[in-house]
Amino acid sequence: MSPLLLLLLGLLSLVLCVLRGRSRRDGEPPLIKGWIPFIGKALEFGRDAHKFLEEHKKKFGDIFTVQIAGKYMTFIMDPLVYPSIIKHGRQLDFNEFSNTVAPFTFGYPPVISRKFPGLREEIKRSFHLLQGDSLTPLTESMMGNLMLVFRQDHLEERPGDEGGWRSGSMYEFCYTVMFEATFLTMYGRPLSAIRHSRMGVLREDFIKFDSMFPLLIARIPLWLLGRTKAIREKLINYFLPHRMSCWSNMSQFIRTRSELFNQYDSLTDSHKAAHHFAILWASVANTVPATFWAMYYLASHPEALQVVRQEIHDVLGIDGVEFTSDRDVTLSKEQLDKLLYLESAINESLRLSSASMNIRVAQENFDLRLDSEHSVAVRKGDIIALYPQSMHLDPDIYEEPQTFKFDRYMQDGRERTDFYKDNQKLKHYLMPFGSGSSMCPGRFFAINEIKQFLCLLLLYFDVQVEDGQTRATLDSNRAGLGVLQPATDVRFRYRLRTV
Ligand code: HEM
Ligand SMILES: *[C@@H]1O[C@H](CO)[C@@H](O)[C@H](O)[C@H]1NC(C)=O
Ligand SMILES: *[C@@H]1O[C@H](CO)[C@@H](O)[C@H](O)[C@H]1NC(C)=O
Repeated sequence: MSPLLLLLLGLLSLVLCVLRGRSRRDGEPPLIKGWIPFIGKALEFGRDAHKFLEEHKKKFGDIFTVQIAGKYMTFIMDPLVYPSIIKHGRQLDFNEFSNTVAPFTFGYPPVISRKFPGLREEIKRSFHLLQGDSLTPLTESMMGNLMLVFRQDHLEERPGDEGGWRSGSMYEFCYTVMFEATFLTMYGRPLSAIRHSRMGVLREDFIKFDSMFPLLIARIPLWLLGRTKAIREKLINYFLPHRMSCWSNMSQFIRTRSELFNQYDSLTDSHKAAHHFAILWASVANTVPATFWAMYYLASHPEALQVVRQEIHDVLGIDGVEFTSDRDVTLSKEQLDKLLYLESAINESLRLSSASMNIRVAQENFDLRLDSEHSVAVRKGDIIALYPQSMHLDPDIYEEPQTFKFDRYMQDGRERTDFYKDNQKLKHYLMPFGSGSSMCPGRFFAINEIKQFLCLLLLYFDVQVEDGQTRATLDSNRAGLGVLQPATDVRFRYRLRTV
């Protein structure tokens, strides 16, 4: 059973009070209830959300309401209408996730509560430390940490490798490097060492927890999930104040949050640690699969890889200069900003792999204006949902939508921003990071760190996908929840480049 389905069934427990069915009123979108009372269309939706929505769009048009596990969800399928949903701040609220689902999943008490006056606002404010001027020290720190992990784990000569080639599993490779480098950048290093001992154990526990994430989001009780409770506790304990006080070079972001939590006497040490753990999840869980897909698509498209590698050489100005593995690479934030073909390739990978649903809850009955002539009636408590994957894979917007075209977001050497639907220019055409006020605050850092990883990889190594494997496919396990993981890992080989 798909976790998304479980998510929807999980919602069931919350909404027992709305057992009464309802019928469509004038001015409301078509209503689809399914023949199983209450559960409605949850089963079909959970099996394959993208397909389900495409089929309903064909039948009912661009807006329809589906009863899913007792909730009425109105899907807006026309991306030309997205802007009017995204800017509806007042009537459409997004707090469901941050205030109920996230605390349940990561183990801290709801943030919006009389016990913690102002906490939610202060947490929101701390997100600025992932952006703007703060991005420069974060990016510099990430560069150093990636370099450290690459150098100690992958750059030393290993005699005995066949023709210099080593082989590995691509997802695991991305996971190991990105997990540790991100951890060091966010939380710092031990006072007396440059790397944390037992990083591998932490990562393994994290992966175990993450595999349960869709079930936790569905609010399946912890006691039903085997060892998940114990594993989560172990992960949280890693961030207890007495341990974090032994780390140095922590990011300003995490330091500020620690100071903030210390102002609330009603937050226990374990709650504070759980907040830090949640940030570890947010900073790694989508970034790793996103890094994987970018690496995978580049490795399996040598012509794209060559253009991107050349761009990196050009920006670094190392053409003609001998570049060897004993030289450290540093790329400033300004240099990273110039890597547009690389950015386009990353965006193209995100287009193909991200599947996050954007949800807003109606705060009152109101008419949702779609364009100058049309509006639909929305009832208080209904969920308005955008499913950008449908837009990302729309052949009307993206020619050959299933094909990786690394320069899809480039035109005449510049970023391309004009994409059309029904001959009208789209304001939103790529939405891996959500939208509006709930948009991912780490998105700039995420793109930068993926760029840095790929720069090091392409500068130091030749990379090839090993023959005899089927194409990597998306695991739809977390459809609706973020970047999808690969269904199986991919074998690849790599060797130090001799320039
Ligand atoms: C490719 C990588 C990433 C993707 C695709 C991604 C995507 C998202 C999405 C879809 C949301 C929810 C937005 C919404 O509900 O509309 C989100 C929230 C969030 N992300 Fe990211 N993210 C990524 C990387 C990061 C990184 C690296 C960080 C931190 C360093 C981060 C920190 C956060 C935080 C703190 C939130 C919660 C915001 C809130 O509570 O309002 N993310 N992310
Ligand atoms: C740690 O921080 C200090 C001072 O902020 C800085 O000089 C040093 O380079 C940093 N070290 C590492 C390994 O990041
Ligand atoms: C890539 O996507 C991000 C938003 O997700 C956007 O800000 C950036 O301009 C895009 N870059 C390119 C080259 O398409």
